[in-house]
Amino acid sequence: MATRIVVTRRIPDPAIELLESAGDVWVSPHDRPLSTAELHDAVRGADAAVTLLHDRVDDAFLDAAGPGLRIAANVAVGYDNVDVGACARRGVIVSNTPGVLTEATADIAFALILMSTRRLGEGERLIRAETGWSWSMFFMLGTGIQGKTLGIVGLGQIGLATARRARAFGMEVVYAGRRQAPEEVEAELGARLVPLDELLATADVVSLHCPLSAETRHLIDADALARMKPSAFLVNTTRGPVVDEAALADALRAGAIAGAGLDVFEREPEVHPGLIELENVVLIPHLGSATIETRTAMGVLAAQNVVAVLGGGAPVTPVA
Ligand code: GLV
Repeated sequence: MATRIVVTRRIPDPAIELLESAGDVWVSPHDRPLSTAELHDAVRGADAAVTLLHDRVDDAFLDAAGPGLRIAANVAVGYDNVDVGACARRGVIVSNTPGVLTEATADIAFALILMSTRRLGEGERLIRAETGWSWSMFFMLGTGIQGKTLGIVGLGQIGLATARRARAFGMEVVYAGRRQAPEEVEAELGARLVPLDELLATADVVSLHCPLSAETRHLIDADALARMKPSAFLVNTTRGPVVDEAALADALRAGAIAGAGLDVFEREPEVHPGLIELENVVLIPHLGSATIETRTAMGVLAAQNVVAVLGGGAPVTPVA
């Protein structure tokens, strides 16, 4: 029987072309996430599945796919949508797309740092509202970042790329995480590993880069927000559920922290209504890796993983 490769939502053409070299490719005709029933129907009998971050790859998905499935290639660096244990138990390889989206996502993290500290979303809304404005010494003053401290939660590739940008902008860097960075990385950034509570209490901007897992779900809850300085800003470009959005809305409304910039949300595409009504939060729709170049590279890397595994080789970027 021909090799069947299922792509659950359209990905860039170069990736599809590469997949076509390895088998018959079915691409979902819908430009939306498939419902669970549609997803399970689609993967039936697949040898490989190319999945997106909104697809749940769990036991039910694997049951639907059947025993022929060899790889679930997730087109994202995050793979919290994949039950890696369930895949391992059935010998299904899981791959993700690290590296290729590092710089694009760090750009967005830094854009959110600048947008929130300098009130850029608020300024844009003000002009578009056409209510009138005039320059004055005290008009829309923001917070400067030079000489301030950026606290990176999770110094992986994206955290590191964000920290490098911060150094170029004259910021100090501290980081929290499970592992100490190599000495040369700490030296380059002038950064040190601190406990999360210390980072929260001392950073002027806290930027989240840890993956979503059982340990990091609601890592930033009401207690964590209460530890932050009232002058501090929170930026999230990882996954929404790392932050308790209701607690964040309360903290922003009460002035417990100064502002926030969010690219990701707890229940995407929904955004907590308490956030929408606030001026001191920048809200953008999960754009971290959204450049033509990056999305193409992500698709191609996922396809390379599929081609390698179906060809009997090792995946290029298996998840740990
Ligand atoms: C996007 O959010 C990704 O994980 O790649």
